[in-house]
Amino acid sequence: MKINGRGYRTIWPDANGRTVHVIDQSQLPHAFVTRRIDSLDDAVAVISDMVVRGAPLIGVAGAYGLALAAADDPSDAAIDAAYAKLFKARPTAVNLRWALDRLRHCLLAAPPAERRALAYAQAARIADEDVTCCEAIGEHGAALIAEAAAKNPGRPVNILTHCNAGWLATVDWGTALAPIYKAARAGVAVHVFVDETRPRNQGASLTAFELLGEAISHTVIVDNAGGHLMQHGFVDLCIVGSDRTTRSGDVCNKIGTYLKALAAHDNGVPFYVALPSSTIDWRLRDGVREIPIEERDQREVTHISGRAADGSLVNVQLTPHGSSARNFGFDVTPSRLVSGLITERGVCDASESGLRGLFPELARAA
Ligand code: MRU
Repeated sequence: MKINGRGYRTIWPDANGRTVHVIDQSQLPHAFVTRRIDSLDDAVAVISDMVVRGAPLIGVAGAYGLALAAADDPSDAAIDAAYAKLFKARPTAVNLRWALDRLRHCLLAAPPAERRALAYAQAARIADEDVTCCEAIGEHGAALIAEAAAKNPGRPVNILTHCNAGWLATVDWGTALAPIYKAARAGVAVHVFVDETRPRNQGASLTAFELLGEAISHTVIVDNAGGHLMQHGFVDLCIVGSDRTTRSGDVCNKIGTYLKALAAHDNGVPFYVALPSSTIDWRLRDGVREIPIEERDQREVTHISGRAADGSLVNVQLTPHGSSARNFGFDVTPSRLVSGLITERGVCDASESGLRGLFPELARAA
């Protein structure tokens, strides 16, 4: 996707074959800054500090982190130690474990002298596959948007999304936003309601930035507005992303997603979740009980960042001194509230049979 007219991915290796670069998402939308990742520790830091975020991108950043570690020391012990460090960087998005498992398995099967080159090649492959998957998700999801458009000729399709599951959350295209980009490029009129997504405001900052860049009509709303909009017929469908989806179709996504799914259910609004198969955790069935929910620093709740009138970026306190906060990063939407899962192989029911039908080999291997 383009920033200031220039095409970018969210992560790319340097021509020197070692350094990796990322877009620093903590500075967006107010400043476009890229960051170098030179070491395993840099990779751990950019993931845990959310310089890069979004389940698919976290997976790719983890893979490059392991490649950087293997370049320093390709021994089994060093690869295992790096795996353990990266694995802990963000606990909920399962793509991190998926990418690390895949790379570690491949590296340990190769002679140490070949591991460095192999690691970078595999990380690049995981990145390229993510782009292909997300583009396919876009095509399948765009068909749903086109159906909604056909039901309401003469006006745009109104789509509500939560957090940022756009190209910034992946390597390119995005998950929940890919169908919107594809539909818009196919000439379907769309308008997006963007949940601001407290506490870190990935909707207000990142999703709005992306949609603006693609010239897609959108309106930022406070997180509490979605129910009201749905009650009054302002939303045709919801599309959100996922950080981990169980084999039974329960969906873990950014905190607040569950409330939107409840409101959608109550108002008969279709609620779709877009995800690549790397986001499916085939080991789990009961998302509410089994998915680990990341709890982050309470400062993300008690404080807020933005741009001051003089252009400087500031972080100010919202709460009184002495009030404590809890900061749960994600929640789980049970499969019964999900109208369908949009994957790279098509749209299926949010159920074990639905997922198994699209990915029989992955279900069997788990
Ligand atoms: O905490 P984040 O910003 O990494 O969380 C990302 C999300 O929850 C996104 O909404 C997304 O759906 C998953 S990544 C495509």
